[in-house]
Amino acid sequence: MRYAIAIGAVLAAVLWITPPAHAQQAAAGAAGLDFDYFRANVQPIFLAKRPGHARCVSCHIDGTPMRLQALSPGSATWNEEQSRKNFEVIRQRVAANNVTASKLLMHPLTPEAGGDLYHSGGKHWTSQSDPEWQALATWVKGSTGRAAAASPGKVRIIQTNSAGDNVSIIDPVSNKVVGEITGIEVGHGAAVSPDGTRIYVTNESTSTVDVADATTYRVMSKIPLSGHPNNFGITRDGGKLFISITGEKGGVDVVDTAAGRLAKTVPIKGGVHNTYVTPDGRYAVAGSIGGQTVNVIDTATNELVWSVNLGLGVRPMTFEANADGSTKRIYAQLSEFNGFSVIDFATRKEATRIKLPELAAGKRPVQVGGNVSHGMAVTADQKILIVNSRLNNTVYKYSLPDLKVVGSVEMTGGIDPNWVTLTPDGRTAYVAMSGSNWVSAIDIATMKESARIPVGFVPKRNITARLQ
Ligand code: HEC
Repeated sequence: MRYAIAIGAVLAAVLWITPPAHAQQAAAGAAGLDFDYFRANVQPIFLAKRPGHARCVSCHIDGTPMRLQALSPGSATWNEEQSRKNFEVIRQRVAANNVTASKLLMHPLTPEAGGDLYHSGGKHWTSQSDPEWQALATWVKGSTGRAAAASPGKVRIIQTNSAGDNVSIIDPVSNKVVGEITGIEVGHGAAVSPDGTRIYVTNESTSTVDVADATTYRVMSKIPLSGHPNNFGITRDGGKLFISITGEKGGVDVVDTAAGRLAKTVPIKGGVHNTYVTPDGRYAVAGSIGGQTVNVIDTATNELVWSVNLGLGVRPMTFEANADGSTKRIYAQLSEFNGFSVIDFATRKEATRIKLPELAAGKRPVQVGGNVSHGMAVTADQKILIVNSRLNNTVYKYSLPDLKVVGSVEMTGGIDPNWVTLTPDGRTAYVAMSGSNWVSAIDIATMKESARIPVGFVPKRNITARLQ
C-alpha cells in the first residue's frame, strides 16, 4: 500500500513537471485556435488511412500520450462532446502561429522536411506541402470563419504577365501551366481569397481589381479603383485588399471584398508601387518610388501608423517574422541599388543596407533598367532570404537572421530575374524571367534550376496560393 502511494507520488510529480510547458502552449494557442476548423479539417486526419501506415487513432486512443476519445460503437467519427475533449488534448500540442514549436506538426513530419527526429508512430508526412500538413498549419496559424470551413486546396503559382492579356496558373508539382485567366491586359499583382475560391488581379488597363473564379478562371466582376493600380496585398481573413495606386495623387486603396467596392484611399506622397500585408496580417506596408518611403498602415483602422524615408525609390519588399509571427524585419529593394535595405520593425529604422556580390571579373552586368535588384522572398521557416539581381542575372540565397550569402545561381540562357515566390515548404523558388517569357523553378537546397515553364509575355509579379 505504501509502495502504491509512493508510485502515485512519483507519477504525480512527473505529471506536475510536464503540464506547465503544455499549459503555456495552450494559453498561447487558446485565442487563435478554431474549434469548427479543428472538427472539420484536423480530426479527419487522425482517422485517415495512409498506405503502409497505422492510423493515428489506432495508437492515440489508447496507451500513448495525446490521448484521443474512443469512438462510440458503430460510429466512424467523434460526436460534438468527444470532439471538444479531443480539441482540449490536441491544442496542448500546438503553439499558436508557430508551426515549428507545434509537436502535432513536427512529430509525424520527416526530419528532411523540417520535422523532429523520431516519433514512435512513424513519419506520416514527407513534405510541408502535404495537404494534411497544410491543413494543420492553417489551423495553428489561427484560421477562422470562412477560410476555416474550407479544405486547404491545391498549391499554385499565380503568374501575371505584365505585357500580356492573361494570367498563368502553374502547378508546382508538374511544373506545367494548368490554367489561364484570359481578358486581363497588363495584369499587375495577384492575391487569392483565403478559402481559395477567388483570384484577384489588379488590371492596369482598366484601373480595376478584377475578381476571377478560381475554378473556371473567368473574370466575374471588376472593382473600380481611385487610380492606376500596381501591386497589392490581402488580409488574412480576405476581407480587405490594400492596393497600390501610382502617381502624385496616389496612395493605398482599401477595397472591401464583401461589399465589392473601394472603401477608402490612404494618401501617400509620391504614390505607391508595391503594397504587402505582413505575415501576421496586422499591417499593410506600402513602398513609394516617388516619395522614397516605406509606409506602415494598420489593417484594422486603415490608418497610416509610421513611415521611414530611404532616400531612394522603394521597390519590392518581403518580411521576416518573429517566433510569435509578428514582423521582425522588412527587406526593401531600392531604385538603382543592387542590393536591399534592412528595416527593423520595432525601432522603425533602417538597420543596414546590404549590397549584393559584385560580378566576377570578366562578367558583364545586364542592362535591363533602373531597378537592378527586383524580387525577394523569405522561406516559411524564416531561415532563408532569396534575392534577385537583374543586373547580375543571378538569384542569391542569404541565410537568416545573419544575412550571409550561402548560395547563388546565374540564370544562364535566360534574361531578367524580376520577381520570385516560394513554395510553402520553402524548397522551390519560382523566378519570373521577364525577358525570356518563362518562369524558372530553382531548387533552394542546391540552388540549381530544375524547370523552365513558358508563360505569357514579360512575366513579373507572382504569388503562391492555394486554390479550391
Ligand atoms: C504506431 C502507433 C502510433 C501511430 C500510428 C501514431 N502515433 Fe503518435 N505517438 C505514438 C507514441 C507511442 C507516442 C509517444 C512516444 C513518442 O513521442 O514518439 C506518440 C507521440 C505523438 C505525439 C507527441 C505527444 C506528446 O504529448 O508528446 C504527437 C503530437 C503525435 N504522436 C501525433 C501523431 C499523429 C498526428 C499521428 C497520425 C498522423 C500519429 N501520432 C500516429 C504512437 C503512434
